[in-house]
Amino acid sequence: MISQFTNLIDLNDMPVSWWNEVIDLGAKISDNPSAYAHECDGKIMATLFYEPSTRTQMSFQTAMLKLGGTIIGFDNPATSSVSKGENLKDTTKIVSSYADIMVMRHNLEGAAKAAALTADCPVINAGDGGHLHPTQTLTDLLTLSKEKGRLDNLTIGLCGDLKNGRTVHSLCKALSCYKNNKFILISTPELRLPFYIKSILNASNCVFEEVDSIEEAIGKLDVLYMTRIQRERFASPEEYEKQKDVYRLDHTKMLKAQKDLCVLHPLPRVDEIAIEVDDDPRALYFKQAKYGMYVRMALIITILKNEYPTKLLVGKTRKGNECTNPNCITQKEAYLPKSFRGSGDTLECEYCDERFLQKH
Ligand code: NCD
Repeated sequence: MISQFTNLIDLNDMPVSWWNEVIDLGAKISDNPSAYAHECDGKIMATLFYEPSTRTQMSFQTAMLKLGGTIIGFDNPATSSVSKGENLKDTTKIVSSYADIMVMRHNLEGAAKAAALTADCPVINAGDGGHLHPTQTLTDLLTLSKEKGRLDNLTIGLCGDLKNGRTVHSLCKALSCYKNNKFILISTPELRLPFYIKSILNASNCVFEEVDSIEEAIGKLDVLYMTRIQRERFASPEEYEKQKDVYRLDHTKMLKAQKDLCVLHPLPRVDEIAIEVDDDPRALYFKQAKYGMYVRMALIITILKNEYPTKLLVGKTRKGNECTNPNCITQKEAYLPKSFRGSGDTLECEYCDERFLQKH
């Protein structure tokens, strides 16, 4: 199914040239934001946040206000009809008839794609469970392009919860599309990068290695992307307790890093970066959050031009097969058409990318 709108569900639905245009526009806007003050006069953006957020939601809202538009929405589904049992389809159908563009964050994977199937306006994925976070990736790419001057030939260390961190998944997928990027994946064995993302790195011939400590990697890195351990995605509090304080970037570790290392973090930080690191000129995470607002301004302008209708479902239903991921939106919203990519024994859910063995 091809949408009549330009949606941003997964950056990899679009060609790299499209992302580069958004990033370049974001860079221009950051140099002169007031030149864009009337780009969205009369337009309304809806922000539907089913999960907590500070930066993503506020930067989207500020972006739309700076473009001359207005905003509606909720940041707590408990105060909307969702609490009365309304399904995702009905909520998004109605809201999309009020708004020109919709931004959605949801705890379930594939939710933004599910919304885009029936919405009457473009949908932007602002994070779907532990799956993807494409607008954080645009933020990260704009930051790297401004601060490092390139998106290729980088050695990138990603540290923390690589299993559940949606920002990490989106960023790895995106950086694998630029030449000669190398990845050092720093995590405990329990929180390694999912197999399907590693297959994407392999398919793009990206070199990557998995290590256990920051110390063994930091000296080799151009970029260190720190992430928090995603407490809300753990099966039990005990499992979270075992993982929570393993990584901490501090001044002593920074002594071993290159002079032009770029330390990024999507934020919020818990304890994984000591406050003392904030004063190090290589700590760019607060600047990164500001770039997020500019790149979202660029994204809103680009999406509203509607020049790139997105493919939403291109696979097939497979009789007798359901996605095996308990956090997939298709588990909760039973009316959704099931759709899988793949042939042979392995199927891949088109909403959440879960891979599983086909039942014959
Ligand atoms: C991230 C998210 O929500 O995935 N935050 C953000 O959008 N900047 C990272 C996180 O919550 O750890």
